[in-house]
Amino acid sequence: MTSIKHDILTYLIQAEGQPVSGQWLADTLGVSRTAIWKQLQILQQEGYEMESTRKGYLLVKTPGKLHESAVAPLLETKRLGRTWHHFDEVESTQLIAHDLVRKGTADGTVVIAELQTAGRGRMLRPWDSAEGKGIWMTVILRPDVLPYQAPQFTLVAAVAVVQAIKALYPALETNIKWPNDLLINGKKCTGILTEMIADPDRIQALLIGIGINVNQQLHEFPEELQSIATSLAIELKEKVDRAALLAKILGYLEHYGDYYVKYGFAPIKTLWEQSSTTIGQQVRATTVREVIEGKAIAITESGVLEIQTATGEIKSVYSADVEII
Ligand code: BTN
Repeated sequence: MTSIKHDILTYLIQAEGQPVSGQWLADTLGVSRTAIWKQLQILQQEGYEMESTRKGYLLVKTPGKLHESAVAPLLETKRLGRTWHHFDEVESTQLIAHDLVRKGTADGTVVIAELQTAGRGRMLRPWDSAEGKGIWMTVILRPDVLPYQAPQFTLVAAVAVVQAIKALYPALETNIKWPNDLLINGKKCTGILTEMIADPDRIQALLIGIGINVNQQLHEFPEELQSIATSLAIELKEKVDRAALLAKILGYLEHYGDYYVKYGFAPIKTLWEQSSTTIGQQVRATTVREVIEGKAIAITESGVLEIQTATGEIKSVYSADVEII
């Protein structure tokens, strides 16, 4: 986005329903009134509705999509979301992200879609991604960490989403089910799928795929999900501003990602444990090889789940579906 257009939009959004004078915008941004007018025309073509009042321009409606123009004015990040790819429809944002990584895209690139036709979940499951109802995004990170640390970054992402939801909606209690399902009132509202592109000794990129059910109503979920899935709007009983939530998540993801690189996993692990519903519970973990039942006693420094079985044996689980029983 041109920076004048971006700055105009930022002032209009920050004015929160008050008109902003065209002359003031021109003086503040050091450009002509005509230049301001041209950018306002472009914003209107993009779906921003404005009224021209005696006191200036009033933003009355935003397009409602997660365009860069809607989210950038709310972003408090240095790197995350500073390269933005928005699509109305894709198969999966993960696929687009893989391609962008091959082309050398910057750390912090965000790929976001209104609709995914073949959204991917963990364990090769499909991920239902209804149009305009959720946040379906992949964030490309290029942290200076070793390949074995990738699973810890998944937990960093889970913590970031929990903290963002908590900051905006303190009444909602969001819990993490290992490794990174976010649940509200026992139902899943968010899934995280992390993929890695790496050389043997260094990560080239992490593709953090985050799917958040934001504004679906129960009947809008496929029938088989209705008893196990929820959305923020269902839990809050009100529509959620996706752009504000997205900006918050990117802020926390940058913050905790940097924190992790600087101070290691221990502080993140503490935050993860505070929101965990898994530790201390009797669980059934279904891995590709076996089903393990027992008490979830801890996650290790590398994010591995430890389960103590009835015989006292402690089993390490690297990847599984976990049910609390
Ligand atoms: C899970 O199984 O819980 C993980 C779901 C991850 C879904 C997100 S939506 C955005 C990104 N693109 C995909 O195809 N999947 C992830």
